[in-house]
Amino acid sequence: MVVGMKIHATPFVGTLLLGLVISCSVEKPDRPMASRYDERYRPQFHFSPAENWMNDPNGLVYLAGEYHLFYQYNPEGTRWGHMSWGHAVSPDLLHWEHLPVALSEQPGYMIFSGSAVIDWNNSSGLGTVETPPLVAIFTAAAEGNQSQSIAVSQDRGRTFKEYPGNPVVDLGEADFRDPKVFWYEPGQEWIMVVSMAAALKVQFYASKDLRQWQLLSEFGPAGAQQKPNWECPDLFPVLVDGQPGVTRWVLKVDLGANAIAGGSGGEYFVGGFDGKEFRPDSPIDVVHWVDYGPDFYASQSWSDIPAEDGRRIWVGWMNNWAYAQDIPTHPWRSAQSIPRSLSLKKRGENWRLAQEPVVELQQLRIAEGAFYLEGKSWKEAAAEIERARVAGDLLEIRMSVSGSPRKPFGLSVREGEQEETRVGVQPEGPLLFLDRSESGDASFYNGFGRRFEAPLSGSLDGGLDLHLFVDSSSVEVFADDGTAVITAQIFPRRESTGVSLFGEGDDLVVDRLEIWKLGSVWRETARD
Ligand code: FRU
Repeated sequence: MVVGMKIHATPFVGTLLLGLVISCSVEKPDRPMASRYDERYRPQFHFSPAENWMNDPNGLVYLAGEYHLFYQYNPEGTRWGHMSWGHAVSPDLLHWEHLPVALSEQPGYMIFSGSAVIDWNNSSGLGTVETPPLVAIFTAAAEGNQSQSIAVSQDRGRTFKEYPGNPVVDLGEADFRDPKVFWYEPGQEWIMVVSMAAALKVQFYASKDLRQWQLLSEFGPAGAQQKPNWECPDLFPVLVDGQPGVTRWVLKVDLGANAIAGGSGGEYFVGGFDGKEFRPDSPIDVVHWVDYGPDFYASQSWSDIPAEDGRRIWVGWMNNWAYAQDIPTHPWRSAQSIPRSLSLKKRGENWRLAQEPVVELQQLRIAEGAFYLEGKSWKEAAAEIERARVAGDLLEIRMSVSGSPRKPFGLSVREGEQEETRVGVQPEGPLLFLDRSESGDASFYNGFGRRFEAPLSGSLDGGLDLHLFVDSSSVEVFADDGTAVITAQIFPRRESTGVSLFGEGDDLVVDRLEIWKLGSVWRETARD
């Protein structure tokens, strides 16, 4: 969202009216009926609320066998407004149980984005050591003033009480939001990274008790020059590929507009954090994009994933402020991306953030109807797919190719009469691309139907892996070891389920191709 709340002035009134209408005609969002989740475009293995508007993931924290997903939610309508924290929990990052709204809009302020931690030592004194409190740190967004507040849960996030001493950080600023808090072991204190959105910088604060916070330093402006604001920062150490136990720090921030794919998007900086300051490894104006597609925003990583697991996992809001409120879905709007596990990979002299779909997703593969081949020429592979009539609206596709092709090649998915979404590689560059210009309904936003590109490192001779996840209304593609990622919503017809290869594939060998149909996490059955 660009520049505080101004942009929402008009939708707010509309939302209020819409909210009144909706609330008398449908059941409560926390009790979805079993037959729901089969609407047109309804994501089958991505999280979406049963009804109403959702934006950023919030308060991602793991506790006692549950991954918590809180999220920016409008309980009263399908557009932005009345911001509250919706809530769901999952044992495996795939199957979600909806819980009642956790933090509701209050008279005078809305509950904007933020994070959650488990206060294991009860440093806040707001719980007990026996039952460590789950503490949410969020922005209380009033007209003209955004401040940071905390709320405490002693029943695994089911209910919260606001801390009576709120707000805990208040600068009297209109654009000051989205606190992300983590425990910094070397300093034995909590660190908060929070955005001074309009000033294009983040601030770092420290606290011993989550209540009193001291300013440490600032970072920014930096990176992309064209940004109108900075939101939703996250800061975390990430394992460096090939060097067990070694980490570098990643600072991620989001731009409300003018990002790489148009509209909103995220960038990141790799560097060092010494408990006080963040210092990037690259010159201050170097830009690294998180995702080269249009629909991955406000990503946040889970806190408190057990050390035995050791992964840093995040999800992003799979939408774009440029058109988010107009996408043709009903009675919900927006989904979260698939969860992705993060690492750092060396590209030249630089570390690049790599995203990999979490392994849990493999549980969704349906053995029946799986397609597999190896060691075929491009033309042979294309013919085999055609012969096997490979099709599906929920798919995982893995393809490894090698060669020195001169022309673009790739996969077309969600193919139907006059519809297709193309994911391919352009040797010149080389580039990964996703083209949604013929993908289906694009009528709600001028400029929705277009092609997105991500740079690939090196030549294709050494081989290239493509990894795709196709859901009812999205495609996510990971290439170049997860350093080139494109996430895009699409709105095809239900019956557009074809899959084919395109391009001449001169000199290309398909070393391996796997196509899996995936099951629905809401209904546990295949779709077709
Ligand atoms: C990002 C954002 C945050 C804010 C929230 C409000 O998408 O604009 O900065 O906290 O959405 O819903």
